[in-house]
Amino acid sequence: MERTKVADILQKGLSGTEINVKGWVRTRRDYKNIVFIAINDGSVIHNIQVVAETSNFDEALIKLLTTGSCVSVEGMLVESQGKGQALEIQASKIVVYGTADGEKYPLQRKGHSLEFLREIAHLRPRTNTFGAIFRMRHEMAYAIHRFFHEKGFYWLHTPIITGSDAEGAGAMFRVTTLDPLNPPKKEDGSINYAEDFFGKETNLTVSGQLEGELGALALSQVYTFGPTFRAENSNTTRHLAEFWMIEPEVAFFELKENMDLAEEFLKYLVSTALQNCRADLEFLNKMYDNDLIARLESVLASPFERLTYTDAVEILKSCGHPFEYPVDWGTDLQSEHERYLVEKHFGKPVILTDYPKHIKAFYMKQNEDGKTVRAMDVLFPGIGEVIGGSQREEDYDKLYQRIQEMGIHEKDLWWYLETRKYGTAPHSGFGLGFERLMLFVTGMGNIRDVIPFPRFPQNAEF
Ligand code: 4AD
Ligand code: MG
Repeated sequence: MERTKVADILQKGLSGTEINVKGWVRTRRDYKNIVFIAINDGSVIHNIQVVAETSNFDEALIKLLTTGSCVSVEGMLVESQGKGQALEIQASKIVVYGTADGEKYPLQRKGHSLEFLREIAHLRPRTNTFGAIFRMRHEMAYAIHRFFHEKGFYWLHTPIITGSDAEGAGAMFRVTTLDPLNPPKKEDGSINYAEDFFGKETNLTVSGQLEGELGALALSQVYTFGPTFRAENSNTTRHLAEFWMIEPEVAFFELKENMDLAEEFLKYLVSTALQNCRADLEFLNKMYDNDLIARLESVLASPFERLTYTDAVEILKSCGHPFEYPVDWGTDLQSEHERYLVEKHFGKPVILTDYPKHIKAFYMKQNEDGKTVRAMDVLFPGIGEVIGGSQREEDYDKLYQRIQEMGIHEKDLWWYLETRKYGTAPHSGFGLGFERLMLFVTGMGNIRDVIPFPRFPQNAEF
């Protein structure tokens, strides 16, 4: 008999038919002549209840139906007599694919802490929480492609191994096949990367932007969506060493159009979550964050606040709030400052623009004032920065000068500079941190819980 997914059973109302479900036992309850098991197959947050009359089965088989075991059940789907579920299956045939020793199975009982579940990342997808998060992650990834595809953007596959440092002076993971104990040396004693696999020093990319710009200056509208890597030793709830980033890049866009695109994009994703992930959201809203759904709805309710960094600093300096880190013009904003603006001052998402040039990357378009650049950061409640982006410097001389000023090796970026020599154009783009978005839409508090196998300092077990 063909397998029916639990999601389809609940949606299609197949009551009165013979069906087959396959999945993992979540709970077992024993009564005198009956055993109830709840099966989950990951297709939806809900379980399906199976009723097995013990007299119809081998005693040995019934014993194996423990939490964590994997089973196939055939039987009649009927309206349930009991409370808590609409439908149940009266089992006529049960096959156990895989047992799970009740004494040892780590998810035998419910209510484990998220910290503990992180240590069993190989099993945590079998919990309600992580099932909900990973289904939503898929739904968001799919919505991202749909959004750009429908606008006529092309998905550009930018490299993961690169010879340049897109953000300038970021900490990167080296990619090498040289023998760490005995690398080839130059006469001055330094390592000779000419003998390395690619004939030069290479790293895992921190961003696909620079290559994205090459695409935009030909295809007009492109986006990247892939893993990016940062070797910063940051142990915060908002940083990963490996995270996914979405980077649209658009020829002929100036900063205002870039902001409009970012706002429309984020609202599209939030409203998709509200529409397509209802059951999972309701679970997360109930279990972790009672304001989650209301917060998602509030983001859709009004236009994001847009103001310059300079104006934001004025607000922060005069608001009288006791910040841990002092603010003054020229300092980089801390997440406490970003969250104050979003959560306390404006009560909605904020887009800050025109940051001091010395705290931003070399490629941002310089303003007339000589001090600021056409940067934009989108700040969200509970998170702080979800998007960073800018209009790009399209003028060869200004870009070249900035590269010199910042001490960036021009020989690594000759190809990037050439786009400003041949048919340069105004263009803009931004990067959305996928896991920051996931933090927002799931209401989870730690970024390590919104990616299946988080990478952070001292952790790459799974
Ligand atoms: O602000 P960032 O560093 O910008 C760039 O990389 C640009 N090249 C983007 C562009 O203009 N195309 O990073 C963009 C976003 C941040 O706003 C944040 O959401 C996320 O990436 N991000 C991280 N997410 C998780 N862990 C980290 N270590 C992150 N660093 C940045
Ligand atoms: Mg940033």
